Amino acid sequence: MPMTDPLWYKDAVFYEVHVKAFFDGNDDGIGDFPGLTQKLDYLQWLGVNCIWLLPFFPSPLRDDGYDVADYLGVFADYGTLEDVRRFLDEAHRRGMRVIADLVLNHTSDQHPWFLESRSSPQSPKREYYVWSDTDKKYEKARIIFIDTEKSNWTWDPVAQAYYWHRFFSHQPDLNYDHPDLRRAMLDVLSFWLDQGLDGFRCDAVPYLFEREGTICENLPETHAYLKEVRKRIDEAYRGRILLAEANQWPADVRPYFGDGDEFHMAFHFPLMPRLFMGLRSEDWHPIVDMFIHTPPIPETCQWCLFLRNHDELTLEMCSGEERDYMYYAYARDPQMRRNIGIARRLAPLLDNDRRRIELLNSLVFTLPGSPIIYYGDEIGMGDNVHLGDRNGVRTPMQWSADRNGGFSKADAAALYLPVIADSLFGYQTANVEAQQQTPHSLLHWMRRLIAVRKRHRAFGRGTIEFLRPRNEKVLAYLRRHGEDVLLLVHNLAGSAQAVELEIRQFKGAVPIELFGESRFPAVGEAPYMLSLAPYGYYWFQLQRTTAGEPTYGIEDSLI
Ligand code: BGC
Repeated sequence: MPMTDPLWYKDAVFYEVHVKAFFDGNDDGIGDFPGLTQKLDYLQWLGVNCIWLLPFFPSPLRDDGYDVADYLGVFADYGTLEDVRRFLDEAHRRGMRVIADLVLNHTSDQHPWFLESRSSPQSPKREYYVWSDTDKKYEKARIIFIDTEKSNWTWDPVAQAYYWHRFFSHQPDLNYDHPDLRRAMLDVLSFWLDQGLDGFRCDAVPYLFEREGTICENLPETHAYLKEVRKRIDEAYRGRILLAEANQWPADVRPYFGDGDEFHMAFHFPLMPRLFMGLRSEDWHPIVDMFIHTPPIPETCQWCLFLRNHDELTLEMCSGEERDYMYYAYARDPQMRRNIGIARRLAPLLDNDRRRIELLNSLVFTLPGSPIIYYGDEIGMGDNVHLGDRNGVRTPMQWSADRNGGFSKADAAALYLPVIADSLFGYQTANVEAQQQTPHSLLHWMRRLIAVRKRHRAFGRGTIEFLRPRNEKVLAYLRRHGEDVLLLVHNLAGSAQAVELEIRQFKGAVPIELFGESRFPAVGEAPYMLSLAPYGYYWFQLQRTTAGEPTYGIEDSLI
């Protein structure tokens, strides 16, 4: 992928990683930028195009860095600004881009702005936050962290007033009605782009403004400000991107793309649990229905598809019945639940079943959008539900069977979190080194998946057409881009399935299976018959034959 293509994100494979979790370069038990830089060769080998870094700014770490205490600094344990720059240079040298979290909505209560703001009503920073004499305003706004918070208002004894917060009470919301604050945040954006970042994953964007009588989400004022943010990118930083974290229904996310003048990308939150539902219920309907409810987006925009991330598998965009089903199917142990969701990694969610892990990955790599891999999921890392908050899915990367999984030479007790060491998912068995040495490991398979995807722009840019076979256990769709036509077929069931696909419009075309490049019988007049192994999948390119060229039947191809 040329580094000059302004639409690079449409074809990219993203990789989400926390600096502290990847590799410890100075043996203090905490991952850092020099460590991450050392592991860039691994990411290049894997084939990812863009790294997404979780917040690495100074912070009291009460929300793992999403409680920012200084937007322009680097958390000391992770390294220096110089280390960040070196890391960015090295990533770019290897043809990879890097985006980072931009936490627009709130700061830590330790941010100097907040300390100043609370100190006196006359403080010039007073209006940087949302203060009130009463906690009865904006009552229609829901509470997001229902596990820990009772209200979106907290009384501050210093300010003698209530302050507004949509997340933890130690994360006061910034006041976007204040022009100085709006400007200050644009300066933050420019500062990091000037260091060489390729864009931002913009945290919690629906909540920037508050208005009485509304749910204080997705307000027109919020969109207007985000368009200003985009303008800054277009004016001075072409080719950099903005990715929206808006955990909303597709119809409410759609405006975040604007007319191609707001976000370049947005996560598709509601699709994610439906991939798990479709798999568990062996039924394509939940997945296809979600796309029916997904409005088209501008040509220059892109969905971001994911299976897991650093948060819980959120069930916010699910009905009560769907939630019950998901808890029943994937989190019977209440310890696995957080807020409205399930705090587990991919491999344990799928009982470490390689077939199901491949199947779900195959879906996020072939449905419309760009896929994100959560660090460690490429080797089937496990989780630890006994760690508090969402820490169970944020444990150190497992590099080898060495001490601390090869992540750090520090004493085990000094690690920021313990490595996973159970017999199923522990670093002794699930690690990069072992899987690099095993040709059929999950890691090698993921690498191949990435490589095959990269050969066809249709995955990132093509149209989608669902085939709706009578066999509801088989999800089949076409992706088309110019002359390139891909046929993707997935068996969501744990038993072998046969399916008939209505693709006679491609009569004469020969399906080429993309992983092995083998030819399948040509498409004829009759429905195309396929049989699939339990949780099996096919990626085909439908190759049109030119007149006179022989098409192959089963017997022909065996000769
Ligand atoms: C992040 C969470 C964080 C929250 C508050 C999110 O949406 O993904 O990890 O706790 O924002 O900043």
